[in-house]
Amino acid sequence: MRISALYAQTSEAPRRDAILYLKRYSPLLKWQPYKENVLDIGCGDGSVTREVLYPYLEDHLEKLMAVDLSEEMISYAKENNDLDRITYKPVDLDNEEDVRNLGMKFDHIFSFYCIHWIADQRSLFKRFYNILNPGGQIFITTLSDSSLHKTFKKYLTDETWAKYLPNTSGFTDYTDQPEEFVTNLLEETGFKVELCITEKQATPVDDFKGFIRSVVSVHRFINYIPEEFKEEYIQDQIRNNCEFSLYSKETGKYSWTYTSFVIVATKK
Ligand SMILES: C[S@@+](CC[C@H](N)C(=O)[O-])C[C@H]1O[C@@H](n2cnc3c(N)ncnc32)[C@H](O)[C@@H]1O
Repeated sequence: MRISALYAQTSEAPRRDAILYLKRYSPLLKWQPYKENVLDIGCGDGSVTREVLYPYLEDHLEKLMAVDLSEEMISYAKENNDLDRITYKPVDLDNEEDVRNLGMKFDHIFSFYCIHWIADQRSLFKRFYNILNPGGQIFITTLSDSSLHKTFKKYLTDETWAKYLPNTSGFTDYTDQPEEFVTNLLEETGFKVELCITEKQATPVDDFKGFIRSVVSVHRFINYIPEEFKEEYIQDQIRNNCEFSLYSKETGKYSWTYTSFVIVATKK
């Protein structure tokens, strides 16, 4: 099965959160009097973009550009989640030139569970600021901790994997005071912070192993692993993520344990 299709089938936790947080916090969004250009960053398979985000935007929307680092995810999104006003594009948000090449400005930027993969959040928020119109807003969910964070941290010194991977966990370190850390970064960049909160979660996932496989298979670190060891690496990721998560004997399901982070801010 294609990795993008596996993600589509197993990503009930991120999807549930996108539904929950948009319902709770979308009243903080202020729409322009004209039809807006909107960006969705790290759109993955595109199902959250089309089924969850799009209905919130429909009445305000000129064009929704949905981008992802993974060409595999983008091609799945084009095939399965296409709509007239959505354009899917492969873009690396960590790459200045990719972002410049977007060639337009936006009134809202959304991103669901993507930006924790980008280590330099200061530069990222500056990039957001530069591609927003005045009064534009960001609405972001990200992760400040999870079984994936714990696994990648362990790999920094792991006998088998450390020699292949770069000497960084690849995740943002939101520090032990994530709200304060992000609020300061956003204010220094020129944003007015409307919301910046974390929440501990434990969400049962039907096919937890499939979910982890789909996430680590598109993570950029997989490219550092020699082809012949890739499957072993994925299996080891799955084992570690299971160990760092909760298992219920009654339901036979793993619960993905993580700390979510929700951020809404306005360009001053
Ligand atoms: C957990 S998925 C979330 C997908 C979707 N937003 C959702 O809520 O289901 C994270 C996505 O972020 C993408 N991603 C990671 N780093 C990225 C980067 N630097 N630029 C663009 N996308 C990135 C990954 O390829 C992956 O598809």
